[in-house]
Amino acid sequence: MQKILDLISEEMKKAFAEAGYDAELGRVTLSNRPDLCEYQCNGAMAGAKKYHKAPLMIAQEVAEKLQENAVLSEVCAVAPGFLNMKVKESFVRDYLREMSGAEKFGFQAPESKKMIIDYGGPNVAKPLHVGHLRSGIIGESIKRICRYAGHEVIGDIHLGDWGLQMGLIITELQKRQPDLIYFDGSYEGEYPKDAPFTISELEEIYPTASAKSKEDEAYKADAMEATYKLQSGVRGYRALWDHIIAVSVADLKKNYANLNVEFDLWKGESDVHDIIPGMVEAMKKGGYAYESDGALVVDVKEETDTKEVPPCMILKSDGASLYNTTDLATIMDRMENFHPDKLIYLTDKRQDLYFEQVFRCAKKTKLVNEDTELVHIGFGTMNGKDGKPFKTREGGVMRLENLIREINEEMIRKIRENAETKGYEIDMEQAGETAKIVGLAAIKYGDLSNQASKDYIFDMDRFTSFEGDTGPYILYTIVRIKSILAKYEEQGGDLTDMVIDEAVNGSEKSLMLELAKYNAMMETACEEIAPHKICAYIYDLANAFNHFYHETKILTEENGQKKAGWIALLALTKEVLETCIDLLGFSAPERM
Ligand code: ARG
Repeated sequence: MQKILDLISEEMKKAFAEAGYDAELGRVTLSNRPDLCEYQCNGAMAGAKKYHKAPLMIAQEVAEKLQENAVLSEVCAVAPGFLNMKVKESFVRDYLREMSGAEKFGFQAPESKKMIIDYGGPNVAKPLHVGHLRSGIIGESIKRICRYAGHEVIGDIHLGDWGLQMGLIITELQKRQPDLIYFDGSYEGEYPKDAPFTISELEEIYPTASAKSKEDEAYKADAMEATYKLQSGVRGYRALWDHIIAVSVADLKKNYANLNVEFDLWKGESDVHDIIPGMVEAMKKGGYAYESDGALVVDVKEETDTKEVPPCMILKSDGASLYNTTDLATIMDRMENFHPDKLIYLTDKRQDLYFEQVFRCAKKTKLVNEDTELVHIGFGTMNGKDGKPFKTREGGVMRLENLIREINEEMIRKIRENAETKGYEIDMEQAGETAKIVGLAAIKYGDLSNQASKDYIFDMDRFTSFEGDTGPYILYTIVRIKSILAKYEEQGGDLTDMVIDEAVNGSEKSLMLELAKYNAMMETACEEIAPHKICAYIYDLANAFNHFYHETKILTEENGQKKAGWIALLALTKEVLETCIDLLGFSAPERM
């Protein structure tokens, strides 16, 4: 479907041409004075120089051509030369009718691409903390948006499951349980199926080992050796590693499921271990990689650089691989196995320079094609009310589970409070379920409504509020519409085959105009990969709906056709809101 602004612009362009001016001057935009008009065109001002004429005169001549028009109801030329206009209700109504019948409400998908999105990026054996929250939330939304836009998208978690951290865990296990069969080099039988530790033990073992290695050189050397043995394939070490991964992944799956975050691939850094030597060889042979102070590096600086871009290090002087190495090998693996047109990475924006180096290196060494798009979306920090990175009350790193629990508790309190003020009973079990759904919306909307690259303040009170620019407010609006639609059906109303009728009041038209913006908004959100644009839109739409709702007695309206028309408008509003929140990665409960 064409965008409503384009349809209106077409009328304006025709009028400019009829009045003897360049049609291109007739571009229409949303009004920046909504109190005066709905749309505006500043073409007369732009034309004044070219035609040596006062802008107001041009505007007047153009306005005259539009006095009888099927799309525009009011067109006025105002000083110094603006064209202010309103559209006919019948035109918007027809537009919305077409929209309700169209696939994706008339949103036109761009050319389909194959993409891999790398998000989440947790490290095994370490609990998820708030730092991983943003990668999961934004990545999931971006994946859904890209899929909606018709792209073929694969989501990969890219686990941090290789390297020294694994050696540390193994070392600490050996110190605690030296008799474990895994450490017996002469053992040739099968290893036990069950892991010799639980997830809670694992989560305690890692920080303990990490702290020890920082103080104790010998301990660190042991961990490095364990890492080396693991990487060179020592059976017992590999078997232990398998247990660590299994226990950790089971826990991660549970945690991500609670966040409504899903991955298609659960690959990790370890998956590319075996292809690293081949990649390194090729980089040397191609003349890209050279030795510098013992390390192997690839130059990636460019003439146009305004900042220093250091070489990309491929191997350390002891021959060990780095974070870069696994990322480059992963790119190679993804290209070979999935042939993507585009790779999108989500991490903290402090990794901006890092990804710049990796991407340049991948292009230069021809791991990717000339036209493969490599995109890093660096996000800002989630801060506490003090403006510093979010911490627990005790000042520690906040575990994701605890954050979610706190939000849910606050949500239950608000749901109860709301029920009390409205004077109805609530079932506590149901309230708990609802709190989970609404709590998730509070967290996700609170995050996604900010442009990803910006830092934001996690404000429990504001995020969980039923009023204002919040997730719960959006859900509350949907629930309100659901309840009206259900009551309408109870009254014997038919929810199928409805037509949107003539608007009766200003708020109804505003709601209609807001709905009509959908496909233009979605096009921008998809093009710019910008979930915050969807948030801004549904906030405006929810506001437009609530104004209409407060001004209109919908269910008691006696004119059946009028009522059915409103109900159709509500149904469309609900569908649009639900589609949008699904793209943000949350859903609405039946009641709140
Ligand atoms: N595991 C890393 C971390 O916790 C994030 C991984 C991001 N993805 C990537 N391909 N480098 O910082």
